[in-house]
Amino acid sequence: MNHFEYGPQGLACEGVPLAKIAAEVGTPVYVYSRATLERHFVVFRDALTMSGVVDPLIAYAVKANSNVAVLKVLGDLGAGADTVSEGEVRRALAAGIPGERIVFSGVGKARREIAFALQAGVAEINVESEPELNLIADVAAAMAFNNASGIGNTEGFRKAWEAQGAMRAAFTKMRGLVEQLLGEGLSVERLDLGGGLGVPYFNHPEPPSPAEFAAMVGEVTQGLPVTLAFEPGRVIAANAGVLVSEVIHVHERPEGRKFLVIDAAMNDLVRPAMYDAFHDIRAVTQRAGETVYDVVGPVCETGDTFTRDRALPPFAAGDLVAFMSAGAYGAAMASEYNTRPLVPEVLVDGDRYAVIRKRPTYDEMLARDLVPDWV
Ligand SMILES: Cc1ncc(COP(=O)(O)O)c(C=O)c1O
Repeated sequence: MNHFEYGPQGLACEGVPLAKIAAEVGTPVYVYSRATLERHFVVFRDALTMSGVVDPLIAYAVKANSNVAVLKVLGDLGAGADTVSEGEVRRALAAGIPGERIVFSGVGKARREIAFALQAGVAEINVESEPELNLIADVAAAMAFNNASGIGNTEGFRKAWEAQGAMRAAFTKMRGLVEQLLGEGLSVERLDLGGGLGVPYFNHPEPPSPAEFAAMVGEVTQGLPVTLAFEPGRVIAANAGVLVSEVIHVHERPEGRKFLVIDAAMNDLVRPAMYDAFHDIRAVTQRAGETVYDVVGPVCETGDTFTRDRALPPFAAGDLVAFMSAGAYGAAMASEYNTRPLVPEVLVDGDRYAVIRKRPTYDEMLARDLVPDWV
């Protein structure tokens, strides 16, 4: 469930019409619902607790949406953070998430980043390969840490997942591994079951609900003497955010193909270009009728196409569109390609909203480039 609904002033996020935010902040703009973020976290946590999982570490995958305000909303509810870079560890700490609730993953952690994470007292460093295990041990020894923190095995998990095609099979395999390690007299404190629980993207088949997922986890891990960690990203953030964009113009080719040219581009929301991802597109002001469009952005790339042949309400220049399910891997993957200012982010809380990342000015963007005096 999310808090994006039509009201008298069109599609609203909680109590704030998206048209109001678009008018005041400008477009394109990401808009997040605090109530939806909180609800998704609480549903996930409560489902695990109801299935008998005791005191899980729910380390929200920062990569999905790394805005510090979003992290603080989740951290204040008790969420931990799954991070993949020193920058993400710093974001989690800045949001008030303590080191003991931070998991550090990622296939290519640099020595400097490992040292930083150890210094921050992270709960767990997920070892992704044997060379990395050696590197972590080396850094820890140099820093006189004699336990290199908890060790997860997300790579093993990912392989098990791919090979067996099912979460239950993967988790059963992980259980077997933990039992084997315990049997060999090794100490295992925590089993990290990772992220990757899908979300109900509009018009797409439903993934397992948090309740079904948690029941399966409860069954598979019953009696295992370890605490469990999870790294949910999309399931928390995706449906808690939308990208609002304005129609620049509607362009009809002689053969009849209609293009909706909007002011958001692949640099603002790259998932359709990069993964062929589907996003439901809604008119902010509801209207009757249907027209088939290709929806494209202004970036000079053939990849700057959000969708082709999509039946949508009829649009005119100046209308607002909302890309649904854009709260995860949206702003976090945005860039300034084509020297387009980085898309801003807004957080809504009931009837109020705040800009939680402002759109840079052109002066700020250009000031980052330095021209040496010998050029
Ligand atoms: C190690 C790890 N944890 C968590 C996640 C988050 O996955 P999702 O956003 O699908 O829940 C990912 C996604 O790439 C990941 O690689």
